[in-house]
Amino acid sequence: MKEQLEALRAEAQEQLRECVDSAGVEALRVRYLGKKGQLTALLRGMGALSPEERPKMGALVNQARSEIEAALEEKIRALKQEELNRRLQEEQLDVTVPGVSAPIGKKHPLTQVLDEIKDIFLGMGFQIASGPEVELDYYNFEALNMPKNHPARDTQDTFYITDNILLRTQTSPMQVRVMEKQKPPIKIIAPGRVYRSDEVDATHSPLFHQIEGLVVDKGIRMSDLKGTLELFAKRLYGEEAVVRFRPHHFSFTEPSAEMDIRCFSCGGKGCRLCKGEGWIEILGAGMVHPKVLQGCGIDPAEYSGFAFGMGLERIVMRRFNIDDLRLFFENDVRFLEQF
Ligand code: DAH
Repeated sequence: MKEQLEALRAEAQEQLRECVDSAGVEALRVRYLGKKGQLTALLRGMGALSPEERPKMGALVNQARSEIEAALEEKIRALKQEELNRRLQEEQLDVTVPGVSAPIGKKHPLTQVLDEIKDIFLGMGFQIASGPEVELDYYNFEALNMPKNHPARDTQDTFYITDNILLRTQTSPMQVRVMEKQKPPIKIIAPGRVYRSDEVDATHSPLFHQIEGLVVDKGIRMSDLKGTLELFAKRLYGEEAVVRFRPHHFSFTEPSAEMDIRCFSCGGKGCRLCKGEGWIEILGAGMVHPKVLQGCGIDPAEYSGFAFGMGLERIVMRRFNIDDLRLFFENDVRFLEQF
């Protein structure tokens, strides 16, 4: 029996050494010390011993038991330590390493101001229309009362793709596209990119943005044009903004006008911003030419309308005091992040 006890003890130690996790240790505890465990079985077998031998053997078994118990405890402790060491190793974190920053983008200054302009017109009941940048000659010129010999069609100014297809030089073709599809009442703005064959410099770019506007209904008059555009100017530049209308010429409006805003830098006295004029031109506008309405199947005897068009870049440049148009398109974040 003594040998049996020795063998059991050795076997337990051996198995404990091979044990790799706490579940394994627990299984060994049950196997040796549990109610149905091997040591318990040995104790039970003691009944067969002589009365003199019994206490000696009992003491030996108890000793083996506490030895195994201690070994189990020790193993559990070692496993925990091992686990801790591994995690410390794996989860090592150097809090002094600079973090990886996730830069948050923001809207391009052109988009910021365009959004503001859209909001102003949406607030006045306008809808937003959009159309192709690669446009037919018909929409860009012909239907806008610019016949074949019109100077604006010059190849110096226009990117032609074929004789009949070009990059739109203005957003005005959207007037025609909308009127062909939609019967009055019409009240839209059409912002978008336009193209002209210009050399790049501080004030010119072959690509820029315009915002077109069109209102057509029964009884639309010049006073509607003036009221709408003056309100727009006050919303964009503040209540104190003062505007004036000057006669002008556009082939697709009659009469035509340009709207100026009193220079907000000098108050009208004349300064560098307004080039000594006291006024800054904001947009072109006019009453839609009867020929244009007719060409779109709208009877000018029944309906009338007004239209306007403005350049976005110039508005944004004045808003943020930017003196070089090229900055908008270079996409240098050091510039863009300032707005
Ligand atoms: N399309 C004109 C341009 O590019 C601007 C313009 C003037 C638009 C008068 C209009 C308008 O709708 O009525 O110079």
